[in-house]
Amino acid sequence: MLVNTQHYRTIWPTALIAGGQLSVSIIDQTKLPHAFEIVHISHLAQMVTAIKTMQVRGAPLIGAAAAYGLALAAQEDSTDGALQAAASRLRLSRPTAVNLDWAVSRMLGLMLQHPQNVRAQLAWAEAQKICDEDVLQNQAIGRHGLDLIKQLAPNDARVLHVLTHCNAGWLATVDVGTALAPIYAAHQAGIALHVWVDETRPRNQGASLTAWELAEQGVPHTVISDNAGGHLMQQGLVDMVLVGADRVSASGDVCNKIGTYLKALAAFDNGIPFYAAVPSPTIDWSVKDARTEIEIEQRHGDEVAHIQGLALDGSVQNVRLIPANSNAANPAFDITPARLVSGIITERGVFSPADLVGSRVTKESMGAK
Ligand code: MRU
Repeated sequence: MLVNTQHYRTIWPTALIAGGQLSVSIIDQTKLPHAFEIVHISHLAQMVTAIKTMQVRGAPLIGAAAAYGLALAAQEDSTDGALQAAASRLRLSRPTAVNLDWAVSRMLGLMLQHPQNVRAQLAWAEAQKICDEDVLQNQAIGRHGLDLIKQLAPNDARVLHVLTHCNAGWLATVDVGTALAPIYAAHQAGIALHVWVDETRPRNQGASLTAWELAEQGVPHTVISDNAGGHLMQQGLVDMVLVGADRVSASGDVCNKIGTYLKALAAFDNGIPFYAAVPSPTIDWSVKDARTEIEIEQRHGDEVAHIQGLALDGSVQNVRLIPANSNAANPAFDITPARLVSGIITERGVFSPADLVGSRVTKESMGAK
């Protein structure tokens, strides 16, 4: 997408290291919205840190980042043992989004089939392929989501109000976004819409990232506190809830950023459609019962206890919110059961959880291997 009229992806290979080796460039998402900074990553260990600290984040992007992490690892040591160890480190960096595990398995499977001397070269090409596929999938999600938005948009001059949680825009992917792809497509098609942006405590991906993205692309939006959604729905000010996902089970349960479940409950209670937009690598066909089978990442309580923002003197500061002797817990994701989900928007079309359970949509029909 465009940043100050220049096109960026969130991750790309760069020839920076001496000796013809490659590094990886990322947009440091911990600095947004107050600074736009590019960071160069030249070792596996740095990529693991970037994923853990959320310099890169969002399910599809951490998949792409893990793929490049393995390319860096292969550049350092392409023996079977070294690559397997690198894969384990990447898998452990963040447990919930299935895209990371998916990308690591795909990269490792490919490299181990080939002789050591070609592994690094193959890995760079495969990581690039994963990125290009992600962009195409998201563009297709945008087209299918646009059809849906056209159906939901009021026939009169009223604006369509969409509520979103966390950041599932281009920053969460390689480019274009998942939940925000239909919003960008609708905005470009001239449909009058407005986005309610949940701030998304504790990491504030909505307030910091979604709001920044939408502002850059000129999409009308308003940041709200996480607790405001239910009230706005009761007031008739939300026409649709549209979120991304970190993992969708084979029965259509949606695992997404903590707080998504509460929005889905409120939407259900108010008869408002709730959609998740996901590329096919986010569907985990091996998971039947999301509540017991998906590991929910438990992040450090410091993220709840502190908040980062721009101080009056223009510096970015991190301040404590809670008493020094209080504990803070930080589960990072929750499960929205399929019964609350109106539909899942994928690159192959929109389907309901019932389509999954009734086998109208299968792993094979979604092109998954
Ligand atoms: O912890 P994050 O920021 O990596 O989590 C990302 C999300 O949960 C997003 O909401 C998103 O829907 C999944 S990525 C498109």
